[in-house]
Amino acid sequence: MASGNQHNVTLVPQHVAVVMDGNGRWARQRFLPRPAGHKAGVDATRRLVQLCVKKGISCLTVFAFSSENWNRPEEEVSSLMSLFLSTLNAELNKLNEQGVRIRFIGDRRRFSTALQSSIEDAESITAKNARLYLNIAANYGGRWDIVNAVQKISQKLLAGDISMQQLTEQLISQEISLADIPEPDLFIRTGGEQRISNFLLWQIAYTELFFTEILWPAFDEAAFDEALQWYATRQRRFGKTGEQVESVRGRESS
Ligand code: FPP
Repeated sequence: MASGNQHNVTLVPQHVAVVMDGNGRWARQRFLPRPAGHKAGVDATRRLVQLCVKKGISCLTVFAFSSENWNRPEEEVSSLMSLFLSTLNAELNKLNEQGVRIRFIGDRRRFSTALQSSIEDAESITAKNARLYLNIAANYGGRWDIVNAVQKISQKLLAGDISMQQLTEQLISQEISLADIPEPDLFIRTGGEQRISNFLLWQIAYTELFFTEILWPAFDEAAFDEALQWYATRQRRFGKTGEQVESVRGRESS
């Protein structure tokens, strides 16, 4: 699979990244407690995974828990943690049978040992799968990711393994999370806010951004199709002019 900065543009995105926002509001609209919204959010995530498999999308990255989410009320954090653990354990076999490779990005050391061990199992059991790369961002922050990469590179610098001149964009791209898969083509955020909220900052430099009012638990196939259709109409320029992109397209299709 082409990785990093290689631009391999197709009408169907290869990599979709999603901020799943609006679980709390979805629950409130139904006079339900917030955890019920998160539970319905898991159903929507399961549905999206199946849709990606069906549509031949090869990578899906979802923001399950940000570094900042620890600031939520303790009951909500603990109910989210239980939900992650039970979901992972319940879904693992089916996802594995379907050829889904599961990986977590973020600092997992703050999770319970039970959750860390389920994460490790899920990653090792599915490590050889290649139909869909499912990346779950948990205790993740885009700035944390950049700092982490810079720390790894600094160690190499201090050890004399690389020189200052070798510290390039490519080198950071190699040390950042998801370095081995293409950068996201399409970013989707549900729930009406138009923010990145410290999700994949480095990786979305050229990503198309799609925002929808739909609350995450209500994000269904029709909503996904709308995002995909919008994406198919975008002209991705990667810093070039529209004319340059058109002339390359013309040559490719002739
Ligand atoms: C944002 O909604 C959602 C979260 C912080 C949690 C997202 C987690 C899931 C949907 C479960 C996914 C599960 C797995 C296992 C990947 P919000 O609570 O911020 O909603 P609000 O803005 O309406 O309050």
